[in-house]
Amino acid sequence: MKLKSLLFMLSAAAVVSTNAIAQTPIVIKFSHVVANETPKGKGALRFQELAEKETKGRVKVEVYPNSTLYKDKEEMEALQLGAVQMLAPSLAKFGPLGVKEFEVFDLPYIFPTKDVLYRVTEGPIGKSLFDKLSSKGITGLAYWDNGFKVMSANKPLHTPADFKGLKMRIQSSKVLDAQMRALGANPQVMAFSEVYQALQTGVVDGTENPPSNLYTQKMHEVQKHVTLSDHGYLGYAVIVNKKFWDGLPADIRTGLEKAMKDATKYANAIAKQENDKAMEAVKASGKTTIYALSDKDKAEWRKALLPVHKEMEDRIGKDLINAVNKEAAALGVK
Ligand code: LMR
Repeated sequence: MKLKSLLFMLSAAAVVSTNAIAQTPIVIKFSHVVANETPKGKGALRFQELAEKETKGRVKVEVYPNSTLYKDKEEMEALQLGAVQMLAPSLAKFGPLGVKEFEVFDLPYIFPTKDVLYRVTEGPIGKSLFDKLSSKGITGLAYWDNGFKVMSANKPLHTPADFKGLKMRIQSSKVLDAQMRALGANPQVMAFSEVYQALQTGVVDGTENPPSNLYTQKMHEVQKHVTLSDHGYLGYAVIVNKKFWDGLPADIRTGLEKAMKDATKYANAIAKQENDKAMEAVKASGKTTIYALSDKDKAEWRKALLPVHKEMEDRIGKDLINAVNKEAAALGVK
């Protein structure tokens, strides 16, 4: 072969391989523990679609729902190690990471309305909580809503006295531990993926979750009683590996920020209706008796649970709890 044509072939090969590199999409593995048909599951799929659109296919998002890649604790470790790039753990799962202030969201009755919650997540408090993540190698991108929790068991749960001695599954939050103890129950931390079987086999007696999780995990099939207690809140922080995020080309990051903003709007807009629909489906299944608390019951629940705020002051910070209460006061609710 003549030298000239050899050089031509070599330079053509170099162009092809440079193009191949340029076209290899950046992959974001987005792992989470709930079903696709939940507010978080749908939010993740919407982000997948928008991220690919905004970056014109330069980013590919792989969504792994239902703990198919990692369970609760493992997914946090995987994110820090860079084995996955994105998660949306519940706000009750940041304690083991060493950022216990997130447990403010778990305090019973801390959010009298969703508007108070949004003032917290979208205002300076939400931002200051995200700032605490950076020393852990994590960047917080958005808060996603789910809803207020119901309690379930195989016996009616009308008043705090009904909880006495029950083994209740909780997420890894000391506030939730204190909450269950305040009701006289024995809290047990367990990964979300293990809850259905634990309820079925009697390893635990009951649990708490918003209806969307209860229904999509079929917990209502192994829990004869559900109480519409709205005693606490469950939402999420969408988080990314900081090194990965900071290392993205600026235009890609801007596209992903836009995708996240729109996916967040969507996820938050559907959360209530998804939970209402799930509750209707639980009702329609006929497998579970649903109890709405009377005013007298509500007063008893509040009396038993509100002391948890004071008890947890040292852990979460009195100033942070006060700051959240101020947001409620600013809206004229308590
Ligand atoms: C739970 O573990 O109960 C929930 O936080 C799961 C989830 O992510 O909604």
